[in-house]
Amino acid sequence: MFFEPVNGMRPAPLTHNPLNALVCPRPIGWASTISHDGTPNLAPFSYFNAVSADPPYVVFAPNAASADSAKDTYRNLQDIPEFVINLVDKRLVEAMNATSGNYAYGVNEFAECGVEAAPCKIVRPPRVKRSRAALECTVFEIVALPIGSDGRQSHVVIGQVVGIHIDDELIVDGKVDEARLDPVARLGYFNYADLGEIFELRRPD
Ligand SMILES: Cc1cc2nc3c(=O)[nH]c(=O)nc-3n(C[C@H](O)[C@H](O)[C@H](O)COP(=O)(O)O)c2cc1C
Repeated sequence: MFFEPVNGMRPAPLTHNPLNALVCPRPIGWASTISHDGTPNLAPFSYFNAVSADPPYVVFAPNAASADSAKDTYRNLQDIPEFVINLVDKRLVEAMNATSGNYAYGVNEFAECGVEAAPCKIVRPPRVKRSRAALECTVFEIVALPIGSDGRQSHVVIGQVVGIHIDDELIVDGKVDEARLDPVARLGYFNYADLGEIFELRRPD
């Protein structure tokens, strides 16, 4: 089939928007922020990726449920433009999912979902203590995308990575061992995947 998204994202026979199932697997950035009064917030985002290794930059996209509402993460970044991307491994997947609940603005998901926090070195939001890796970030720019056919407003948050935490146990012969990181990835719908088989492919000279 072929379709043009200007006519909506679910033409027959599709019953769901297919994009997340097409662009997969996606890493999960578990983003911590703080509000203007210092209350922490924690939520997962799979519209997340690294876009530059040196200097290190990441992006993630909080999508509002409607044009006149905003995700707490986005609201916090307007006030305190700092965040932490906590990487999600299999041990953390249930806790990560719990923090995606629709909690009222001002609810601290660390406390609400029993996720232990640890202080950061440079930015004000806390990190997830059990995450094997975490990226301390400052906001470089926030780009507003056009409102979608479902009325949702997306913003792309571009962050500069200003500090990197790595569990020493991940480092083998000077490299991060991805199998030890054991990241969980998001697919379409409610599906997830683990790393599966890892293989090497060298680039041509
Ligand atoms: C694995 C996973 C990935 C998600 N990815 C996104 C995403 O990329 N963008 C988004 O807006 N919401 C995403 N969500 C939903 C948000 O986590 C959820 O709406 C959350 O309540 C937002 O929290 P906040 O209002 O505290 O910012 C995702 C949820 C899960 C479980």
